[in-house]
Amino acid sequence: MANYDVIIIGAGPGGYVAAIRCAQLGLKTACVEGRDTLGGACLNVGCIPSKALLHASHMLHEAEHNFAKMGLKGKSPSVDWKTMLAYKDDVIGQNTKGIEFLFKKNKVDWLKGWGSIPEAGKVKVGDEVHEAKNIIVAPGSEPSSLPGIEVDEKVVVTSTGALELGKVPKSMVVIGAGVIGLELGSVYARLGTAVTVVEFLETITPGMDAEIQKTFQRTLKKQGLTFVMGAAVQSVAATKTKAKVTYKLLKKDTEHQIDADVVLVATGRRPYTDGLGLEALGVEMSERGQIKTNDKWQTNVPGIYAIGDAIDGPMLAHKAEDEGMAAASVIAGKHGHVNYGLIPGVIYTHPEVSNVGETEQSLKEQGRAYKVGKFSFMGNGRAKAVFAGDGFVKLLVDAETDRILGAHIIGPAAGELIHEVCVAMEFGASAEDLAMTCHAHPTYSEAVREAALACGDGAIHA
Ligand code: FAD
Ligand code: NAI
Repeated sequence: MANYDVIIIGAGPGGYVAAIRCAQLGLKTACVEGRDTLGGACLNVGCIPSKALLHASHMLHEAEHNFAKMGLKGKSPSVDWKTMLAYKDDVIGQNTKGIEFLFKKNKVDWLKGWGSIPEAGKVKVGDEVHEAKNIIVAPGSEPSSLPGIEVDEKVVVTSTGALELGKVPKSMVVIGAGVIGLELGSVYARLGTAVTVVEFLETITPGMDAEIQKTFQRTLKKQGLTFVMGAAVQSVAATKTKAKVTYKLLKKDTEHQIDADVVLVATGRRPYTDGLGLEALGVEMSERGQIKTNDKWQTNVPGIYAIGDAIDGPMLAHKAEDEGMAAASVIAGKHGHVNYGLIPGVIYTHPEVSNVGETEQSLKEQGRAYKVGKFSFMGNGRAKAVFAGDGFVKLLVDAETDRILGAHIIGPAAGELIHEVCVAMEFGASAEDLAMTCHAHPTYSEAVREAALACGDGAIHA
């Protein structure tokens, strides 16, 4: 069996990026993947397919709601679901094959099958045992359902089943107003499904800026989503074609039921570490099932590293990628760095929602004095031209030094705009630095500059 400098288990954004970087740094590298295609949850059943369906359904929404306003008259397109799914699968295929190409280009061996670690320095795939000086474990995560709810991926589905439904349902209950629930709930609402979101807490998207939460929920309501807040789902009774969801309204202590064609369980994900043999090796795990690592992504067992959704931190593809590159650098004897304070979050609904750094809540908890600079997209000419004036950019800056501490955006291209702030924060910029940077007109980015101006002498178009 071949000897490697590094074997990575899992070819998601964490694992495949780590593999490519290891190879680029001159290490003999293999990556084990049990799925038929590379790219992990993100490319196969996560980020990429969901964004394809968000794009297609957004186009329909634009045709139905905005085309006539611009003088584009005629019947709106109808939905051919099979073709929409084929388009989504084609996008997946292009991306997963792209990773296969990158593996070949960088001379990363793909060891096909499910891997385990019989002892430190060895990785077993099928009947073959390979030797590796270093092992990076990047097995990702899986949906975590609620106790007593049986998922059949047809009527009661996780995100994986929701990306593959046999037809567009007439009604859907989404359990959980987190990122998955709202992205996929939006897709089906735009396609004509009556979507009801049942959420345990009183606010959607836990942990997000409170003003953004309110505006976001109001916008989604306008788009037809119904919300039942402060409601704990008790059970889901399903037949082959229908389901009944029973929930308790926590404040009133009353029980209620809703019928739906499909129930999407979107109540979080948990690390997937089955079959790796970590327990037998004595690898330390947290109470939440995450693999424990130090600041070099090393576990307590020498030579075994872990990255991505299976360790602490936000379950995001770009966080996994950054850890993959950093762990590879550490193994190659270089410095590996991830700035965990600057990992952006994006929700790809319409409007998009994005954030980075501190929230007002977290600054209050720390007792830090801060200023808020806010600018509405209503004052942005480009946004108004595309019916996207709802929403705003909010910057949080240190009251004394003007240094940018956080940003929260809801509006057009929010997922792109946030990176201007990320770069500024990475360089320790002040709001004045952003405000003094010339921004092209007419762009959505001008709203970021205006929010920066609002931290000082005032925004111009407010
Ligand atoms: P994964 O992508 O889960 O990859 C792990 C891989 O390891 C899998 O392919 C698995 O088959 C393989 N594996 C596991 N165990 C073994 C083993 N023993 N042997 C061989 N192979 C093994 N994040 C974003 O940042 N942006 C988004 O827009 C976004 N959208 C999402 C939408 C949905 C519907 C979902 C479910 C998730 C989304 N995420 C998004 C989250 C993102 O997919 C994850 O954070 C990311 O995939 C984590 O990467 P990873 O490499 O840690 O794990
Ligand atoms: P989540 O943690 O974002 O949201 C789960 C929601 O379910 C929470 O609001 C929670 O309060 C609620 N909930 C839990 N139990 C409940 C109950 N019994 N009844 C009602 N509500 C209940 O988890 P989600 O949406 O499943 O996403 C999982 C992960 O995938 C996230 O960590 C996210 O980072 C990642 N992801 C990222 C995306 C992006 O970056 N755009 C897109 C999709 C997923």
